[in-house]
Formats: sequence, C-alpha cells, structure tokens
Amino acid sequence: MKIYKHYNAKSLMTLFNGDCQKLLKEIPNETVDLIITSPPYCMKKAYEDPKADTETFKELHTNIFDDIYRILKPGGSICWQIGYHVSNSSIIPLDYLVYEIFTSKNDHLEYPLILRNRIIWTFGHGLNSTQRFSGRHEMIMWFTKGEAYNFNLDCVRVPQKYPGKRHYKGEHKGELSGNPYGKNPSDVWDIPNVKANHIEKTEHPCQFPVAIPQRLIRALTNEADIILDPFMGSGTTALATFVEKRKFIGAEIKQDYYNLTTQRIKNAIKGDIKIRDDIPVMTPNTNMSVAKLPEEFRLVREEKNENE
Ligand SMILES: C[S@@+](CC[C@H](N)C(=O)[O-])C[C@H]1O[C@@H](n2cnc3c(N)ncnc32)[C@H](O)[C@@H]1O
Repeated sequence: MKIYKHYNAKSLMTLFNGDCQKLLKEIPNETVDLIITSPPYCMKKAYEDPKADTETFKELHTNIFDDIYRILKPGGSICWQIGYHVSNSSIIPLDYLVYEIFTSKNDHLEYPLILRNRIIWTFGHGLNSTQRFSGRHEMIMWFTKGEAYNFNLDCVRVPQKYPGKRHYKGEHKGELSGNPYGKNPSDVWDIPNVKANHIEKTEHPCQFPVAIPQRLIRALTNEADIILDPFMGSGTTALATFVEKRKFIGAEIKQDYYNLTTQRIKNAIKGDIKIRDDIPVMTPNTNMSVAKLPEEFRLVREEKNENE
C-alpha cells in the first residue's frame, strides 16, 4: 500500500504533515463518511502554544467547522473525542463549547448536525487528585449529518455480564432475554487509556486507544468507506482504519508525531500491528449460572460463524 502525502481520490492512506486547515481545503465536497478526532485541549501540552486558552480552542473549531461540514457526506458521522480544560482550578467541559459551535448554523443547513450520543469514555488510571475526585472520564460526541445515517449495532455488540438471564414473567417467561450476539455497548465505554505499560504506547503524550476509533469505525461505516482525522497525533485512527479495511485521510502538524504515524502504518503494512483487543473490563461472578454462556447462544454463534 502506498502512503500519499496529499489528498488523492484513489489513495487508501493519506498522511498530511501540516496544518489540517490546509488539508481540509484539498478535499472535495461530500467525500468523507466519518470524522474521528481528538483536538488539542489547549492545556499547555508539549504540542501546544503555552498561551493557548479556551478562546484559542473556540477560534480553531470555528475556523475548521465549515470545511468539516462541507467534506462530510450527508448521512456521515462526526465523533469528537474531548475532555476538560482546567483554568484557575475550575474545569471547563470542552464538549459544551464544541456543541455550541457545531450546531450554531443548524437552522440554515439542509442537513443539520444532530447529536446522537454523548459517550462517556471511562478509564482506570490517571492523576490522583487530593482536592477533588480524580478525573476518570472524557467524552465522545457523536453527531450525524442529517436524519438518515449508518449504525451497525451488531458489529460492536459486547458480551453480556449474565448471558443466561431469562424473562422471569410475561409471555416470554423462561426464554432467554438477551441477544445471542451480545449487548449494546451503551454510552459508557470502559476502555483502558494508553499509559506507560500499554502495548500501544508511543512517544505521543495524549494517545487514545485503538479500541475507540475501531468501535466507531465498525459501528458507523462500511468496508472501503473514508475516515478523516484532522488532528491525528500518533496515528491511532489511521491504524484502526487500516485494521478495519477502510480508507484514511489525516493531518498532523508536528513532524515528530507525523513520523510516529507513518512508522505505525508502515509497521502495520508489514504485518506488525500492536493493538489491545477491545475486551470489556468486567469481572462477573462466574459461579452464578446466569454468568455462563447458554447452550442456545453457543449454537446460534456457531451457526453464524459457519455461514461467514
Ligand atoms: C490530542 S492529540 C491527538 C492524539 C491522537 N488521537 C492519538 O491517539 O495519537 C492532538 C494532535 O493535534 C496536533 N495538532 C494541533 N494543531 C493542529 C493543526 N492545526 N493541524 C494538524 N494537527 C494539529 C497536535 O500536534 C497533536 O498531536
């Protein structure tokens, strides 16, 4: 697979080294099926201007919004992974600011941006606070461009804690109450964040785990669809896109992080893919009969596997 440095309609993988605002101008109208990103939070990280604040954050989002909307296909999705800005000990939920900017033009748009979920991404590790509860979550805002959209729930079902649970009353009394392929993952995702010992860890200070874009890609796109990450950092979305056999377009302004992305993709092309499987973090009581996979579900799954 060839890696292109500028947008090209035939490219499977476009990795642009520069300001995403320039890359976005290269992309034709209604090209992209899904945008997944985590923008800078203006928190004085190594990759940020130390003077950047929430006004900088708003200005950047206002500047890119028209192009983000223009290049997204009607029916496409935007997934904005975002946390908090901290200023004078006060936390500011950045998704509030994004929501304001991304929906401000809705009254004049043929396909308004509709917020479908505000997913809470929770994780077990982080800074331990002494003056407030330790922060253990961030958000993923999922918008669709218009009313009609793609949602492949069966591609992202997760195991039930108690798959053997049965209806205890009513006309279905005694029948299994769950879905044989697992349950809806809900809007609270417990996925370990990328800390020092994580198999996906690179030199980038703020990676999200591959499992996040991977789950979104599976749920919201089909094979060969086009995914964009305007702030790609170490290339996590690019790697998830490669694994899921979709096409990718991304930008990264810092040369060092851009190099991390190209290296991760080159390794993946060679078959060296380091990712932590999207396994639910849960500890059911396995002694309980409802925690065991019922025979009926096992047979349905076997039949599905045989037909695939
Ligand atoms: C929060 S990080 C993204 C991390 C990424 N999700 C990952 O898993 O590695 C945001 C990234 O955006 C980059 N960035 C900031 N401003 C940019 C711009 N105008 N265009 C492109 N990249 C930019 C930063 O250098 C940083 O690597």
